[in-house]
Amino acid sequence: MRRAGRVVTEMHERIREAIRPGVTTAALDAIGREVLARRGATSNFLGYHGYPAVICASPNEVIVHGIPGDRVLTEGDIVAIDCGAVVDGWHGDAAFTAPVGDVDDVARRLIETAEAALAAAIAQMAPGRRLGDVGHAVESVVEAAGLSVVREYTGHGIGRAMHEDPPVPNHGRPGSGIRLRPGNVLAIEPMVNAGSAETAVLDDGWSVVTADGSWSAHVEHTVAVTDEGPEILC
Ligand code: MF3
Ligand code: CO
Repeated sequence: MRRAGRVVTEMHERIREAIRPGVTTAALDAIGREVLARRGATSNFLGYHGYPAVICASPNEVIVHGIPGDRVLTEGDIVAIDCGAVVDGWHGDAAFTAPVGDVDDVARRLIETAEAALAAAIAQMAPGRRLGDVGHAVESVVEAAGLSVVREYTGHGIGRAMHEDPPVPNHGRPGSGIRLRPGNVLAIEPMVNAGSAETAVLDDGWSVVTADGSWSAHVEHTVAVTDEGPEILC
């Protein structure tokens, strides 16, 4: 899984450098394809229930699962980039949200809060902690910032498949849920909205948007529980 994680991390690095006003989301997908090919890795997104690309690119009010295309990113936008890779049958899956040029305070705070929520959740990835502690960490950070966290979509276990049990909700009760053990690997992925937490799906059957049109940030790491604590694989 570490090798798959390194490929996903390289996809992130290459795509992040390419994000600027004027670039299309399809061009970012092409970079993802190039990295996968160069590393001899395959895509876990392409063909997943018919999904047509190797990344998801979700601008502004799109929360997750935006399909790359000819949409041009413009100054002031934010865009969530979700990437996955498979190496020798092992999966990696991770996402970041980036500003496009200069962005306003709301956009900056969305990104910072999503990143802080993910960091707080990762800190819970130690033996003996429970799944509810992970979700609670996300929820606490987001609510303290006065933003809302999406509940209809969750993180997930990951390993020989991209989506394994258990689902990893972005909310929870401390001390509840399954106990984490060394060797568990979870993809933790908070989705943070500026307005309400409600979601809708566009006619393309994939793009998940905020119901109220407010902007949203999505970040994700694939994280292993080890005896020494959390290890971020990508
Ligand atoms: N990476 C997403 C997740 O975190 C899944 C992408 S859906 C796909 O679960 F269709 F694009 F693969
Ligand atoms: Co995921």
